[in-house]
Amino acid sequence: MVNRQGVRHLLTVESLEAEEIREIFRLAHELKARWRRGEYTPILAGRVMALLFEKPSLRTRVSFQAAMVQLGGSSLFLGEETGLGKREKLSDFVRVLCRYVDVVVLRAFNHAMVEEFASYATASVINGLTDYCHPCQALADLFTIEEHFGTLEGQKIAYIGDGNNVARSLAMACAKLKVPFVMATPPNYRFSAEYVRRLVLNGMSEGLEVTDDPAKAVRAATVVYTDVWTSMGQESESERRRRDFAVYQVNEILMAQAAPQAVFMHCMPAHRGEEVTDGVIDGPQSIVLEQAANRLHLQKGILVWLLKGLLPEF
Ligand code: CP
Ligand code: NVA
Repeated sequence: MVNRQGVRHLLTVESLEAEEIREIFRLAHELKARWRRGEYTPILAGRVMALLFEKPSLRTRVSFQAAMVQLGGSSLFLGEETGLGKREKLSDFVRVLCRYVDVVVLRAFNHAMVEEFASYATASVINGLTDYCHPCQALADLFTIEEHFGTLEGQKIAYIGDGNNVARSLAMACAKLKVPFVMATPPNYRFSAEYVRRLVLNGMSEGLEVTDDPAKAVRAATVVYTDVWTSMGQESESERRRRDFAVYQVNEILMAQAAPQAVFMHCMPAHRGEEVTDGVIDGPQSIVLEQAANRLHLQKGILVWLLKGLLPEF
């Protein structure tokens, strides 16, 4: 998304063209190769990133901060005392903050707040998760799948569990890149009809395949993916959710019904014993640590892609 000031933001997967996702992957591959060779690539020297988080985070926060350091820039993790939404009008907060920094990573409860924030911003805004979606996660996930299998062609992703922020972005990334996606989700936790319509508009050609039978969903799947049943902010519903999702656990019996080469993925943090067993997440098919590691590399691609107008050599 490019706003009126000509600044590029990354708020949703939906806002990206397939070629833009490919370009972010290309940058991420290049930067990961340099990092593997031990090369320091200070292409963001002098650039500053601010991080504003309304919810906890390990992966998103640390991978963005490490990415910025490894690219020669700096990052500022802003605490509550900066007063987002409390001390002054949001438009004043954003317009002032953007006088100091080049990019802002924002994790918020309310997606509309992130959109409003970006509408005032003259620095690039990256959505680091909202209740609606988690674009950086989904991009890193498809990057990881492509890296693991060597191609996205021939892959089939089965998502088991809640139709939440992570599932929405993953499904949208699959729609854009034409990767077959099927989900097993209880009826009350599925995507809205409006979101399914958006998926179809964005390339999910057969429509969304959704079932309440996890065994059916994983048949012939090369990726079995799950996320927590209770997301951050939904803790008061956790007992009900534990009951509603009880048959949606990814365990050894379910994994055995996927394709023989299937991998297990989870955005983490995991609630072991709920959506996934220890045997699966720690087992031979699990690539969750490679997946988490790739947040660093993929987000370098995002940072360079967003700021590339400032970087002639990329
Ligand atoms: N997967 C993910 O975004 O993790 P954090 O909540 O730790 O950032
Ligand atoms: N669905 C989870 C994802 C955490 C990365 C949550 O929103 O809490």
